[in-house]
Amino acid sequence: MAKTLIFLGPPGAGKGTQAERLVKEKGFIQLSTGDILREAVKNKTPLGLKAKEYMDKGELVPDDLIIGIIKDKLEQLKDKDIILDGFPRTIPQAEALDKILKEVGRNLDAVILFKIPDELVIERLSGRRVDPKTGKIYHIKYNPPPEGVEVIQRDDDKEEVIKHRLEVYHKQTEPLVEFYKKQNKLVEVDASKSPDEVYNQILNVL
Ligand code: AP5
Repeated sequence: MAKTLIFLGPPGAGKGTQAERLVKEKGFIQLSTGDILREAVKNKTPLGLKAKEYMDKGELVPDDLIIGIIKDKLEQLKDKDIILDGFPRTIPQAEALDKILKEVGRNLDAVILFKIPDELVIERLSGRRVDPKTGKIYHIKYNPPPEGVEVIQRDDDKEEVIKHRLEVYHKQTEPLVEFYKKQNKLVEVDASKSPDEVYNQILNVL
């Protein structure tokens, strides 16, 4: 059966960075609700126009908007190994996902919890830069972009918004840790380590 992984953790924990590598080296498909929403914002689609006001403030986009997107994607990607990156983020999203997975005949293999202190999140996000052409993620200190690559800073990576995103994580998303512990699906990785070390911890889970 095709593999299904969830990457759970605060903003800036390195979920996107690790997903990018699993896609490249292990053939996974990354389903990042953040990337899907940013693309919709860029293209000014009806979804993007609705989502932008929430994202700029660091708030979560309403559950019904997100659940519909994931349902469509999972129906299209039936036989692929996938990483759900940034979804689910609330208990109603997790409950909806359980239902969708049953409908499409998938098993949830593991929920990988990226553990990292808040101070490190702030440092990582304030130094994050992204190549808008390829989506590749860099950091001014830990992984600087090569010369000639033009990068931008995400609108929600300003310090006040970062702090609010962290509050939203602790309040609305952290309850999922207990939710998935009860299902015996939760595996923790120490996300404060180097990208290679985090990657090896994930490979051990697989
Ligand atoms: P989303 O795009 O999902 O953002 P996020 O969860 O806040 O996660 P990030 O992308 O900020 O961080 P990451 O963990 O991927 O870290 P990264 O690898 O880039 O969501 C954005 C918004 O969309 C939300 O606020 C919300 O409004 C909306 N949204 C999305 N999904 C939703 C949902 N399900 N429901 C409702 N709303 C939703 O790494 C960060 C930095 O650190 C980089 O610079 C990187 O180079 C560096 N780095 C990574 N790993 C390491 C390491 N090991 N050592 C040193 N540096 C590292």
